[in-house]
Amino acid sequence: MHKKNPSSNLESKLNAVSNALKQSMKNIDSFTHVRGESLYVDDVNVREGTFHAVVFDSPKAHGIIKNIDYSKAEALEGVERIFTYKDIPGENQIGGIFPDEPLFAENEVHFCGMPIALIVAKSEFVARQARLLISIEIEELPVIITAKEAKVKGSFINAPRSFSLGNTDKAFEKCAYIFEGETFSNGQEHLYIETQGAYAEPSENGNLKITSSTQGPTAVQKTTAKVLGIPMHKIEVDVTRLGGGFGGKEDQATPWAVMAALATFHLNQSVKLVLNRHDDLRMTGKRHPYESSYKIGLSKDLKIIAYEAEFLQNSGAAADLSPAIAERTLFHATNSYFVENVKTTVLSCKTNLPPNTAFRGFGGPQGMFVIECAIVRAASEIGISPIKIQEANLLQDNDSFSYGQIATQVEAQNTWDSAKSIFNLESLEKEVEDFNSTHQNFKKGLALMPIAFGISFTNTPMNHARALVHIYQDGSVGISTAAVEMGQGVNTKMLQIAAQVFSIENSKVKIETTNTTRVANTSPSAASSTADLNGKALLKACNLLRDRLKEIVAEEYKTQKEHIELKDEFVYINSEKTDLTWTALIGKAMERRVALSENAHYATPIIHFDKTKEKGHPFAYHFYGTAIITTTVDCIRGTYVFDDVKIVHDYGKSMSEGIDLGQVEGALVQGIGWMTMEEIAYNDKGKLLSNALSTYKVPDIFSIPRNIDVIPLETQGNDMAVLKSKAVGEPPLMYGIGAYFAIQNAIKAFNPNYTLKFHAPMTPEKVLMSLYKK
Ligand code: MTE
Ligand code: HPA
Ligand code: MOS
Repeated sequence: MHKKNPSSNLESKLNAVSNALKQSMKNIDSFTHVRGESLYVDDVNVREGTFHAVVFDSPKAHGIIKNIDYSKAEALEGVERIFTYKDIPGENQIGGIFPDEPLFAENEVHFCGMPIALIVAKSEFVARQARLLISIEIEELPVIITAKEAKVKGSFINAPRSFSLGNTDKAFEKCAYIFEGETFSNGQEHLYIETQGAYAEPSENGNLKITSSTQGPTAVQKTTAKVLGIPMHKIEVDVTRLGGGFGGKEDQATPWAVMAALATFHLNQSVKLVLNRHDDLRMTGKRHPYESSYKIGLSKDLKIIAYEAEFLQNSGAAADLSPAIAERTLFHATNSYFVENVKTTVLSCKTNLPPNTAFRGFGGPQGMFVIECAIVRAASEIGISPIKIQEANLLQDNDSFSYGQIATQVEAQNTWDSAKSIFNLESLEKEVEDFNSTHQNFKKGLALMPIAFGISFTNTPMNHARALVHIYQDGSVGISTAAVEMGQGVNTKMLQIAAQVFSIENSKVKIETTNTTRVANTSPSAASSTADLNGKALLKACNLLRDRLKEIVAEEYKTQKEHIELKDEFVYINSEKTDLTWTALIGKAMERRVALSENAHYATPIIHFDKTKEKGHPFAYHFYGTAIITTTVDCIRGTYVFDDVKIVHDYGKSMSEGIDLGQVEGALVQGIGWMTMEEIAYNDKGKLLSNALSTYKVPDIFSIPRNIDVIPLETQGNDMAVLKSKAVGEPPLMYGIGAYFAIQNAIKAFNPNYTLKFHAPMTPEKVLMSLYKK
């Protein structure tokens, strides 16, 4: 249970902040970030003679290519060559899960922005000029934009998936209340600051090196090998860091790297391809929009005894990661609630949009939004607060998820109760009431959002990682893992682990780039599991080395390993400091010809999942948290501010509270953005209308909550989490779902005739209309 019980908001905030600063080290990238010295793909020192590339993409969402005239473009001074599918020596195929996505369109196009050719020139400017000179004739075919249309036309990526628990048909017969409804949640643009890009360089014997802004270096290596028709060992992929990924570079960083490599392969010259913002927005997929329907049944005492949902996922024109994302929607369809009878189905609907892809939460948020809608709707019909229904159904130890995993170490009730008591929910509710009864043109609304999120790749075979550790002879240490730093601070966590095991200064540890020649066959950095998987492998490697070093000491000092400790760069025996330093110990190891490198492998134990039964134990553990969100709506203008977001968050035993707090705040704001202001729009021809930051609004400094309090839930942590520090990357995004309902509560306070909406995002335009709708 929590111990902290700060008397005021300010105090609690100060406590949280000072705690965070005390207990954690700064993100090791913060220094180079603020000085502008951090390196991204666009900062690579290119070789002399490097070519620059621009992608020529489809102007139509669906059709047959009748003719393309490249002649004028090819004739432009400075254009080296234009590559199409005809230049692919291997397979024209980049699909990650299913082979359903060509690198370059051949005879048909399936979405606006679909790559058709790569223009390679002496400068990006020339390549862009050349692009304007290409003419294309397309015979247009019917276009499918929405998931519903796709369902009607039977256009799917794969067969539907269903999870079920108990018997919903029977259970509905016993319900005191039954409600059915439909919901929509829109897509979301990743808007990583660094756009997609790659730099490929040739080496001897047809070997290639690719510097890529990817979350999945192995995916880039593997797909490049397939497209070029060469073995993987000929391709080295290197990643320094990403200027953000958010899932958008789990799979969709690959095509650009493959294209650059293809051009390098043919030209034997370096090629750089970095998308500009417009190209990136147009050509890449986003979070999946979902159209869903639900049926919820409750007992008199507000227990949800049956829940059914059908999720129509707008997958776009190819599978990409859609099937895996659809699966996670099912895993999280009941959020942090226990429902005895569940039947959920997801259909991955094939449309003529760019293939939608991973985005923080990976389908989980879309599933959770629907049950929250169902609860809010039920509460409104019954005439009670949704908080009552949420509270009555929180998951408890030994409850079963619909996929068969039995919940253990559940903190749903704990984070909920803690949030209520620490932040004094009653007085917050009273503040809102008082405010609303004394203000005409401004109204406040409040909502609670409990969340549960499963940690592990849902695809069990992906849950593994390796670490390669070198101790150099001067005592400094180099670490390689599969972890990709994308702003989430994983490199800092890796550094902490090594420094802690060896008990040496942070400055003695260097985190190397992520490179496929040092750590091979890796899973992408994703599923919030990067620190867990790579950290556990790293721990293992460091422990092996430390053990080996202790053996040397044991021999020299005629003692046992158990009596030896490495502490603050000195060797201790029986808790007494010796004069043997870390560096001297490494010197001894060199003299004795002891290996100072170690490579370790970690594969998450216990987890398994049987897709034929849709049952198993897919997650190493679950994350839990509860947020209380308060908003004030300006009822003249329809605009809103978020006054307060108060969170009790289960970090386990956070190893980096500063970094983890940053993750909570960033994800929360991203979730609020998805739910309230970010509005992806395509026209009925499949053209992206929200194709610039003037037409796509992301949260800025003015729209973030005025106050964010995050209180760590004090628990024992979980052994499956690295150093008991729970995964934090994706889950807090889902706190943002509460923002959607807080706004509607404020609208209701202003307009008693208002009927609830379940169509996100709740943009200021929608709010304004809702305020005055009779
Ligand atoms: N934080 C920053 N700053 N930048 C990012 O791109 N990606 C998110 C999250 N936090 C992201 C981020 C996503 S989608 C995931 S899956 C996790 O970080 C991945 O890193 P982790 O596994 O180390 O948490
Ligand atoms: N999360 C993120 N990425 C993934 C997953 C997942 O569960 N499964 C496959 N790729
Ligand atoms: Mo995160 S969506 O798993 O990259």
